[in-house]
Amino acid sequence: MSNLTGRDLLSIADLNQEEINTVLNLAADLKGSKEKFNYNKTLGLLFYKASTRTRVSFSVAMYQLGGNVIDLNPSRTQVGRGEPLEDTARVLDRYLDILAIRTFAQEDIQTFADYSNIPIINALTDLEHPCQILADLQTIQESFGTLEGITMTYLGDGNNVAHSLLLGGVLMGMNVRIATPEGYLPNLDIVKQAQSLATRPEQVTITNDAKAASENAQVLYTDVWASMGQEEETAQRIPIFQSYQINQELVNLADDSAIILHCLPAYREKEITTEVMEGKQSRIWDQAENRMHAQKALMACLLGLTDT
Ligand code: CP
Ligand code: NVA
Repeated sequence: MSNLTGRDLLSIADLNQEEINTVLNLAADLKGSKEKFNYNKTLGLLFYKASTRTRVSFSVAMYQLGGNVIDLNPSRTQVGRGEPLEDTARVLDRYLDILAIRTFAQEDIQTFADYSNIPIINALTDLEHPCQILADLQTIQESFGTLEGITMTYLGDGNNVAHSLLLGGVLMGMNVRIATPEGYLPNLDIVKQAQSLATRPEQVTITNDAKAASENAQVLYTDVWASMGQEEETAQRIPIFQSYQINQELVNLADDSAIILHCLPAYREKEITTEVMEGKQSRIWDQAENRMHAQKALMACLLGLTDT
């Protein structure tokens, strides 16, 4: 039995470097393989926020593993009418083999993990987006053949994606620079956690200087300026974030080999220009594809399907 069997993934830092490598190596194998599986496990999806990539990539990944998917839309289940999470968790535990949850508070997925025995996967909370980062790491590894020592700059809001990138990147030996406007810094506890995981001081840089952060970077990464739940702040944030836009001028400061990533959905001419998104350094579509391979590998590991 692998040491990932039966585990939860609530934060990217729930995995260590060796375990992330296990998932990434399996994801690479599965990506290149036409093998069909017949594992007949059931994945539940409990999503309180919208999703295209995560919902579809998890579903297709589970179908390709030979299993089934149940979409537990909160507005059509009792949890949406106020049934306690603790009760819902204990009941779903009796039916499902694995459950992916997209919600607001990190505490809520912790409650599910505390009250159920099946693996609980964070499919995005306000604090983290670990499944996204597994696919991002796979994409960076495909481009550079390694993660160790690669410099990645994230520009924009110090949000869930920034947090998981910081933790996941540092865990894998990368140098992670986070450039945000004043007042939109990443969560201080996450920064401290990343600093405690780092083995070299240059692995964690937090700055307001988008240009300095982009110089010689090998990965430039951005995300929406207003996340789900912050829609009413969208207009007021535009002038604050304008100088953090990934445009050709910023790309020119990065390393010649630099790749451009965005977790999507993207707002063109806001956090990223169409020119850069569609340009030759963009790996955004490979990154979206890798969501499926990385999550398929993750589920295979958490369900113990790879144990022989
Ligand atoms: N990147 C991402 O999680 O996309 P969705 O919101 O479409 O799932
Ligand atoms: N930070 C974004 C990511 C979307 C995939 C959000 O939480 O809405």
